[in-house]
Amino acid sequence: MSELVQRVRDTTRALRAEFETLAPLISDSAALQALRDRFLGRKSGALSGLLKSLGQVAEAERRELGQELNALKAEIEVRLAEAELGLERRLRQDALARERLDATLPGRRPCVGRRHPLTVVRQELEDIFVAMGYEVYDGPEIEDDYYNFEALNMPADHPARDMQDTFYLEGPGGLLLRTHTSSAQIHYMLENEHPPEVRIICPGKVYRRDSDVTHAPMFQQVEGLVVGKGIHLGHLKGTIEAFLHSLFGEAYPVRFRASYFPYTEPSVEADLGCIVCGGSGRLEDASACRICKATGWLEILGSGMVHPAVFEAVNARLGRVVYDPETVTGFAFGLGIERVAMVRHGIDDIRLFYENDMRFLEQFAS
Ligand code: DAH
Repeated sequence: MSELVQRVRDTTRALRAEFETLAPLISDSAALQALRDRFLGRKSGALSGLLKSLGQVAEAERRELGQELNALKAEIEVRLAEAELGLERRLRQDALARERLDATLPGRRPCVGRRHPLTVVRQELEDIFVAMGYEVYDGPEIEDDYYNFEALNMPADHPARDMQDTFYLEGPGGLLLRTHTSSAQIHYMLENEHPPEVRIICPGKVYRRDSDVTHAPMFQQVEGLVVGKGIHLGHLKGTIEAFLHSLFGEAYPVRFRASYFPYTEPSVEADLGCIVCGGSGRLEDASACRICKATGWLEILGSGMVHPAVFEAVNARLGRVVYDPETVTGFAFGLGIERVAMVRHGIDDIRLFYENDMRFLEQFAS
């Protein structure tokens, strides 16, 4: 055997040993590529060099040596291909491990919107009156003196105008923000002449120059107006009682107190037995009930029989007698929506309704 053949054999053996040592150490694609270059590289690869040198080997031995070298080459190719697959598998497993979803983590609850507590009360009031045959009517929030005061029997200089501090708008026309929904009564009667029978409620925003824990500069009222032949105080009392019992439950007593409003005569205020202390004025720990201020009664609404002067003001504007005080009578009432919500939920600061603090709003069922 020639010296050359011997050398090729030795080198082949050494290369195999080297590959056996290095192959298990392949840890990433760079190492894999380095090994591929080292053994299989077309120009400087160790095997390519050896294969080239075969040309100088005598014909008799070339074949066998060639087979040996090619077998080694094939083996290295297979081993490197396997290593490559292994690397890919490991990369994929690492990525999967990194991206794994923990299906046991608690989900994030979507934020579901709900109605504002005042909307809930307003809609309940509407439902109660609609069930009694009332129509829901919307009056404007910007009024003039006539609708807010004059037609409601409060001529200029009437002391009752001081009962409510009014926001006046700048500019001509004497416009103002309505201080109560009572002005909607006038709009309705002027717009609906025939027949002079009325059964409406008017929910909406009202404005007063007022601000403390129980008064907000903007708040909401519901006005009621019933007009027809033979309407009397008994109808008013029956209606208000039915309404309050429907809203708060049958268990609470309703009482009527004489009062004064320029647009009703007689005028009455309706009180409800306190739903917080049960009418005793005291809480379980004997402290004073702060919702009814220890009186046992909650003032809920103002009402009365429509004053003939209101019908006359409407007739005067219509230029015709449509609501003849000699033949039709009516009753009216007005209440604050916030007041109802505060009583119902035992809230003592009206401003909470308008701060839009989610911690407050989320406490109410929709
Ligand atoms: N307008 C009154 C207020 O704002 C409430 C009211 C009282 C309305 C008597 C009426 C009524 O219709 O007859 O406090």
